[in-house]
Amino acid sequence: MSGVLSAEQLAALDAWLREGLKESRYTHSLGTAETARRLAVAHGLDADAAYEAGLLHDCGRIYDKEAQLPYAVQWPQLEPGELDVPMLRHGPAGAVLLRDMWGIDDRQLLDAVAGHTLARRGMSDFTKLVFLADLIEPNREPWDGIEKLRLVAEQDLNRAMALAIRENQQYLQRQGREEHPAAAAALQEIEELINKEDKA
Ligand SMILES: [Fe+2]
Ligand SMILES: [Fe+2]
Repeated sequence: MSGVLSAEQLAALDAWLREGLKESRYTHSLGTAETARRLAVAHGLDADAAYEAGLLHDCGRIYDKEAQLPYAVQWPQLEPGELDVPMLRHGPAGAVLLRDMWGIDDRQLLDAVAGHTLARRGMSDFTKLVFLADLIEPNREPWDGIEKLRLVAEQDLNRAMALAIRENQQYLQRQGREEHPAAAAALQEIEELINKEDKA
């Protein structure tokens, strides 16, 4: 359980982020990395790999939304219309940058980076963990429900995902924005998983 990057790779990637991201975003990335590491320990997943994915999750933000697009379109697992929402592009764009610029081919890491902007069906526990770490890391501006999500994320990834998706639905509703259908599909799948766990 020792991650997928060499110490040299990790140092070079860290320098790339520190230089390319604005300072608050870099701090958020460090917070996400530490939170992902802690959640991985709690859930029996690879803690160093979780740290790496947390650190790298926003690397697509080194580029602005327009510049992210030509990278993001190259990601093979896009949902229909995913890239029409500019905020969602930096996940897939980041995964393509890590794959093509840095030669990283670890599926779990690339999927977690690509998948942190939009919940969808079939997310692995590792991707869920990074998705949640991004939302609850300590440098996040507090929002209603963050403390509850922090608690639940330590205990149950599926329940935390359901909570996070519902919170996001309400947030989008307040803003008069539409939810991407993939998130509703993810919520349905996760609720089915929770029901199955409850019956087991
Ligand atoms: Fe992000
Ligand atoms: Fe983030």
